[in-house]
Formats: sequence, structure tokens, C-alpha cells
Amino acid sequence: MVFKYLTVVVAALSMAVHAAYIQKTPPLTTPWTSQVSLTNPLPEYPRPQLVRSDWQSLNGQWQFAASSQITSPPTGQTLGETILVPFPLESAISGIMRHETNSFYRRTFTIPAAWSGRRVQLNFGAVTWRATVWINGQNVGTHSGGYEAFSFDITSQLNGGTNEIIVGVYSPVDAAGIPLGKQRLNGTSIFYTAASGIWQTVWLEPTQAARITQLDTTPDIHAGVLSLAVKTSGASGQTVTAIVSTGGTTVGNATAPVGTTTVLRIPVPNARLWSPDDPFLYDLRVTLTSGDVVTGYFGMRSVGTAIVNGWLRPVLNGRFIFQMGTLDQGYWPDGIYTAPTDAALSFDLERQKALGFNTVRKHIKVEPARWFYHADRLGLLVFQDMPAMRTDGTPSASDRTNFEDELRRMIDQLRGITSIVQWIPFNEGWGEYDEARIADLTKSFDSTRPINGNSGSNCCGRDPGNGDIVDDHIYVGPGSTHTPTATRFAQLGEFGGLGLRVAGHEWQPGAGFSYEIVADAAALNKRYVEVSSTLQGLIWGRGLSGSIYTEPTDVENEVNGYYTYDRQVFKGNFDQFKAIHQAVIGSVAWLRAGESISLGVTTSGFTDRYVRHVDGLGVTSPVSDALSRKDTTWRVRAGLASSSCWSFESRNYPGSYLRHFNNRIQRDASDGSALFNADATFCLRTGGTKSGVSFESYNQAGKFLRHYNGNVYVASNGGSNAWDTTTSWAADTTWQVASPSWRSGADITTDARVSLQVTTAGLTDRYIRHQNALAITSVANASSDATTRSDATFIARAGLADPSCYSFEASNFAGQFLRHANFRLQIAPNDNSEVFSRDATFCAQPGLNDASAVTLRSYNIAGHAIRHINAEVWLAISGGPKTQDAAASYAADVTWRVAAPLA
Ligand SMILES: *[C@@H]1O[C@H](CO)[C@@H](O)[C@H](O)[C@H]1NC(C)=O
Ligand SMILES: *[C@@H]1O[C@H](CO)[C@@H](O)[C@H](O)[C@H]1NC(C)=O
Ligand SMILES: *[C@@H]1O[C@H](CO)[C@@H](O)[C@H](O)[C@H]1NC(C)=O
Repeated sequence: MVFKYLTVVVAALSMAVHAAYIQKTPPLTTPWTSQVSLTNPLPEYPRPQLVRSDWQSLNGQWQFAASSQITSPPTGQTLGETILVPFPLESAISGIMRHETNSFYRRTFTIPAAWSGRRVQLNFGAVTWRATVWINGQNVGTHSGGYEAFSFDITSQLNGGTNEIIVGVYSPVDAAGIPLGKQRLNGTSIFYTAASGIWQTVWLEPTQAARITQLDTTPDIHAGVLSLAVKTSGASGQTVTAIVSTGGTTVGNATAPVGTTTVLRIPVPNARLWSPDDPFLYDLRVTLTSGDVVTGYFGMRSVGTAIVNGWLRPVLNGRFIFQMGTLDQGYWPDGIYTAPTDAALSFDLERQKALGFNTVRKHIKVEPARWFYHADRLGLLVFQDMPAMRTDGTPSASDRTNFEDELRRMIDQLRGITSIVQWIPFNEGWGEYDEARIADLTKSFDSTRPINGNSGSNCCGRDPGNGDIVDDHIYVGPGSTHTPTATRFAQLGEFGGLGLRVAGHEWQPGAGFSYEIVADAAALNKRYVEVSSTLQGLIWGRGLSGSIYTEPTDVENEVNGYYTYDRQVFKGNFDQFKAIHQAVIGSVAWLRAGESISLGVTTSGFTDRYVRHVDGLGVTSPVSDALSRKDTTWRVRAGLASSSCWSFESRNYPGSYLRHFNNRIQRDASDGSALFNADATFCLRTGGTKSGVSFESYNQAGKFLRHYNGNVYVASNGGSNAWDTTTSWAADTTWQVASPSWRSGADITTDARVSLQVTTAGLTDRYIRHQNALAITSVANASSDATTRSDATFIARAGLADPSCYSFEASNFAGQFLRHANFRLQIAPNDNSEVFSRDATFCAQPGLNDASAVTLRSYNIAGHAIRHINAEVWLAISGGPKTQDAAASYAADVTWRVAAPLA
């Protein structure tokens, strides 16, 4: 009776001072705003990399009060407001929607009876920026750093009944020199609303006293091993066992006593490699003898660099893929830093993947663990930024110490994430100091991934730092990027920023800005395809290895998203965006049937050499003239003996293939026999080093393609022949699949006069000619007047940008070449600039509509070929955004007969 009476009194007091939760109205509503549970938001287990089956979320409604301090907790008091955890104070979904520098959160909880006898861990995904926690009035600890998970063992503070938790939060935002990314108290322009307080899931879980606290997975695909660092607490004297499995079947396991550091090496033989094309994840189960059990996952992949066609490039599993991604900032109009639901969190990544991107740069924010899980499972490479300090002034000594500590802790928390392939400690000099030392420091925290010391300003004219990447930011761009050095590969860390305001989906109507505002969706498509397609020229001609487009969604008043900030409207044409991404990524050579490649040596000191046939025998050779380029170019074919392997047909001896014969590689005409087919079939294998891939003979298992003293063999490691030597085995059996030394798949005689005849039915009396400098098609023949015939005659030259492609000089205007300018073809005098040479170079391929004719593909504009339409001549991509891109008649209109000269 007494107890009941007390309860009633407390309830009455609460009603007097305590305001119930009311969701505020965000400036914009996402598809998920209304789907947020008001009792159990974000109900998914928050840490997919270290999962326990028993847990209890503390997300939901907590009491809340602003405060002037966070040293004296309001124990036993009812606080005046209600906040929905884990949404930051400034968000509408939190129900507060304002900033507070100091505040208290309070709620009660009970521990399930089933947890009796176990320790209880209190886990926070992240709190901005400092949190002090009291359980039943007892201080259990303080944590600083707004982007990391932290935990307290609260077992001894629990009371066996209704427990009280109070969290005091201090969030100075830019009033202090802390890592904060884009958060500002007064966010305008490219800075945004702050995200204070608890912004990731809070949860309880029972453990044994001896427990696992972290699993750091480092795959070693060359050894066929997962290196697993198991971090533990209270586990001395315990034994740890880890099992790797897939689909419930064990792949490998290992057991070891717990030590100061416990690293298990678990066999994962013949691993199915993780990549954007096949984001395969293995399951992991780790146990201690105490009975603590956790599960996780990982992908098997390698990250490295290699010389590819003379440029240093990043490689994944030994393969160079152009890393094409977006500047993903992770902001929400309703939840600010916190996606309203898990579906929302994965939406941004799923859409990027569906658009054909393979990379995402997580810009000066660190996401919850589930975001990384989505990137891992979807197959998106992640460039992870360190959140920048504020941009004004120089950081103080204590701010620097804190920055370096938070940097180390970010990397410690994320080092097991499969998809992360790059760390970026600084962005554009923001909050920057000691950049060379910080690049080295970052490397010392993690030597397995490239370090991008200062995205956007780490090239020239300033301390270059000791990072691994030359990184430009060029708006709108892509402009002329810096080329790689001997030790640093090149990427475009930011470009784009094409803006379009969409009425009804603006943060502040009319206030939206960008680098270039376009009028409508059609203009956005046109400009997007223009700027993106131009990347091909930089990949081929300037060694560019990655690009980051700004940006996937509008953010507050930045209107350069391809989605509006509320994710309600995709502003452009999804299919046209996707097609151009595929064209750019596809411009990098790989094993695809029908495509031409060269096979580059990866052994240090010999990386200018490629597999070549000379007098029918396989050798390695640098390339110079047309003959050496053609001799080192191979058409990829599905394996003659097995379609799961590959065969390589000579570029200049069609019907002849690379095959082994008495262990020597040679180029022989196929006799169609089963033996020939088997001898000419090679199976792709994990490279001997991170710099490339290996090829095993199809019918001589254990023998690999190897160069030795300038010749090429199939060799067995440590066998009896000279070329079987174990010396340099790994490097000599590792090859780089490179762009073909000879890019054109169809031949045109150079320095010969030609006329380019239309092949489209009904229009074959027409030829390309110039008239008032513009290229057009017009009827021409032997009886045409001299001007017409001369204007329709060109001299085919070796390509100005690439000698394996072609440039067409006007026969009657020496030094003037056919080029594209704003996608229209014209003739213009060669000004010897890089831009001119690329615009005037076209690679000839067998005609799309008639293999005896040619299609002339632009050297620098991905997916585009010379096309006639309405008597005009343009660069066009089938189904693209412009008039000349019309899909109807595309194949015929881009197919040209190289005809006898009209003059
Ligand atoms: C933010 O704006 C308020 C009001 O204009 C001002 O008092 C405060 O100093 C500003 N804070 C910062 C960090 O700029
Ligand atoms: C661990 O591996 C060994 C040998 O590889 C195997 O015999 C054993 O069954 C495995 N244990 C488990 C639990 O999978
Ligand atoms: C030859 O070309 C001219 C235009 O130069 C055209 O007027 C004439 O009809 C063509 N003759 C034939 C036979 O096609």
C-alpha cells in the first residue's frame, strides 16, 4: 500500500514537470521519417562485426534536460523534456531540435532474469562529444570522442531491480578544437547543423567475465589465411578458438592461448575473393573457454599497388579497377547524423551500387558499424576520412594531441572492415598541421592500406607529405589532374558539384547553391555525362586511378546531389548515369571475352615489359613501335578447353594463341585439337604478390606462367628446369592485366589518304567532309567538284594522343585535324596541347554494325564514338542524354567504311 502510494506521487510529479515526446517537424521529410519507432528505434543489432545473441536496446524515449554542467547528475529527479535516443539533439526526430552544450539524459531499465550470473556491458555506438555515465548514482566513466564506440562493465553498479542510467553530454561543436567534420553551431554554406549527444545505438549485453571485445580481421589471400587479432578483457589463462565457415560448412579453424596480443592464423584455402563484382563474405565464430561466444564476418581481399601501363595504380586482388565513387557525407534532414532507419542507412549505398559506382568516400564523418556492414555486403570500396577539426586558425597543442588520439582510435575501431581501402587524415588543409608527420603516423597505425595525406591539396607546391596518393579536387572538372609519381598513385578526390534545385525538396527554398547550377533534369544529365565521360582521357593519358563525385544527395543548402536531401527525387536519368559509370569503369582493361589486353610484368625493374611473341616464341619486351605494340596485344577469349579459364589470341595473327609447348610459351596457329586447346588454356589464380594475378596451366596443374631471362614459360616452383627456380618466383609469376599496347582492334593504314563513308542504309553515298570547319556528311563521288572531294579526304595519322589509335588530318589543310569540341566534330589546327591531342584521337574498332568497317571511338570520352545524324557529325553514346545519342540507328550511324580517297 505504501509503495503504491509513493508510485502515484512520483507519477504526479512527473506529469507536472515532464513533457512527453513530440516529434518535431523537419524542414524536409524522408521516406523513413514516419517509420521511426517511437519506442524501439533502430532495432537492429548495432555491431555486425562482433555479434552476441543476447542483448537489450536502450534506444527509445529518455528524459532530457539542458544543463549548465555535467558534473552533478540529477539522480532520482525527473527531467523536463523527452528525447528519442539515438537521434542527436539538433534533429527533428529527437524531439528537441535545438543545440545544447551541456545536457543530461536519464531513463530506467531492468536486467532480464535470464542474464543472472553474467557480467553486464553497457555499450554506446557514439556520443558527441564527451559523455559521463552514472548508474544508480555511481559514476562508471567518461568518454571523449564523438565518432567511436565505448563500453562500461556496469555489473557492480546494478541494483537487481529498476536501475537508473544518466548520461551527461558535453558538445561544444566548433566552440572547441575537436574533430567535428562539417558540424557547426551556426552552419551555413558548406557547413551544416551540429549533431550533439547520443547519436548511435545504446545497448546492454550480458557476457562472461572473460570476454572478447574486438575482432580485427586481416586477410592474406597469398598465404590463404585470415589473420585474426582477438582482443579480450579479463581473459588471461583462457583459450580462444576461431572458426571460419560459409553456408554452415567449416572452411578453417585455429586455437591459441590468450596472450598480450592474440593473433590466430586461420586457413582459408582457395578463397573466394571479395570485390565490388563479388562481395563475398565469410562467417566467423570465435569462442573463449569461458563460454563467451561472438560471431562476425570478413572478406578475403588484398589491397596493393602496381605499375599498370607505366603508371602506379591501386590494385584490389592484383587487379586495377578505376575507383569511381561519391563524396558521401551521411547527413539527413530529419536525423542529421543518424539515418532514421536501417533501411535509410543502406539506401544511400544501395543506390550508389545500383548506379554502377564501386567506391564511396565517407567524408569527414565516421558512420555506425552497420553502415560498414552494408558497404561490405554490397561491395563498395570505402575511402575513410578522419573528421576534420574546425578550419580557422591553427590547432593548439592539446587539440593536436586529441586529434591524433581520435585518429588512432578511429583506425583501431575500423581496421577489420573489409571495404576500407584508404585512410584520409586531412581534407583540403582543414585543421591541418604537420601533414607529413601525420601521414606517417597514420601509416604507423595501419600499414596495410594506402594513406591519402591531404585530400585535395597534397600534390605540388607544398610539403608533399609521405602519403601514397596524389589527390586533386577540381570543380566542376574533371580538368587536368596531376599524374602519379613513382610512389604515389593519382586520384580526383572531389569533382562535379552540378547543382539543381528541386521545388518542394529544398532545405531553404531558393537558398540552394552549387559550383554550377543547371536549369533542369535534361541539363543535369547532359552535364553529368559530359564531366563523367571525360574521366576516360585522364585514366588513359594521365594515369588517373579514381574519382569522387560531389555528391550523392543534397546536403542542407548544397544542391549538388543527384538525389534531393530528402531522398525523395532522383534528379537525373538513372539509366544514363549508370551507363556512363559502366563505360568509364569498363575503359580499364580486364579479362572479358572479346576485349584486348596486354600482360605486364610486375617484377621490380621489369615493369615496362609485356608478354610478346617474336618469331612465334613467347618473350617479354618493352613496347615502342607499332610492331612491338601489336605483338604484345592479345584478344581475351573464353578458354579453348574450359570456359572458366582463358585463352589469348594474337592481335596480329588471328587464329594464333599463346600456348605452352615443352614448357616454353609460344604463339601457334590453332589446329583445333583437344591438346592444342588445353595447352592454350590458362586459369586465373591469386597473384604471387599483391601487384597482380597469376595464370596456371589448364592441363599442367602446378605450372604457372612465368618470365625468366626474357622468355616466358610454364614453370613449377622449385622444379628441375632453370626457369623453375624459386628465386623471384612470386614476382615472376605475377602479371598485370594492362590496357592493350595497341588499342585499336581494327587497322587503318597510317599516312594514307582515306575517305570515311557512311554505311547506314540509304545514305551510303555520303562521306564525312568539313565545311566552314564543321564536320558534316554530304553526297560525294568521283564526279563531285574538287572542293567537295578534297574536303571529304583525310590523311590517317598515328593518333596524336596514342600511336595505336588514329588522328585524321584534313587533306587540304595541313596541320588541321578532325577533333571533337563540345562533342561536335570539326577540323582545327593542332595547337600541340594535351587537350587537342586527346580530342583528335580515335581508336578504331571493328564496326558495330559491320565488322569489315570501323567504329571510331573517342580516346578521351568514355562510351562515345563518331556518329552522323541529320547530316551532322558528333561524338555520341547510345541512349545518352543528347539528341545525337538517340539509340535508333546508332550501330549503323557509328559504322564507317574506310574508303579509297575521293581526292
Ligand atoms: C553562432 O551564432 C550565435 C548567434 O548569432 C553567436 O552568438 C555565436 O557566437 C555563434 N557561434 C559560433 C561558434 O560562431
Ligand atoms: C578444425 O580443423 C580440423 C582440421 O583442419 C578439423 O578436423 C576440425 O573438425 C575442425 N574443427 C571444427 C570445430 O570445425
Ligand atoms: C555525285 O556527287 C554530287 C555532289 O558532289 C551529286 O550532286 C551527284 O548527284 C553525285 N552523283 C552520283 C552519281 O551520285
